[in-house]
Amino acid sequence: MTTTTLTWTELCAADAVGDGAHKAFFIGTKRLCAVNHGGVFHVVDDLCTHGVAYLSDGYLDTDECVLECPLHGGLFSYHDGCPKGDPAEKPVRSYETRIVDGVVMVAL
Ligand code: FES
Repeated sequence: MTTTTLTWTELCAADAVGDGAHKAFFIGTKRLCAVNHGGVFHVVDDLCTHGVAYLSDGYLDTDECVLECPLHGGLFSYHDGCPKGDPAEKPVRSYETRIVDGVVMVAL
């Protein structure tokens, strides 16, 4: 049995992404896409699993809770990174988040 230790890392100020918006952030060389939906933050890997495009450059649909890739329109849930529409087949990694003293923390 393997045990994974999560490291809580500062991502951004909680007011850096408005409600209903999404934005790219870097932690080191890792590029992440953060979504603010009703004050709750969701974070997934920004690079699409289908090709070379960033989900933060695409459309955010908070009704369906998906990010749409700007290149071919693949859909990914921003809750768990699962593909929700062709041609996306593989999930993007999603990350647990929490807000501490006005700062969004992400578990890497
Ligand atoms: S590159 Fe994202 S759906 Fe093709």
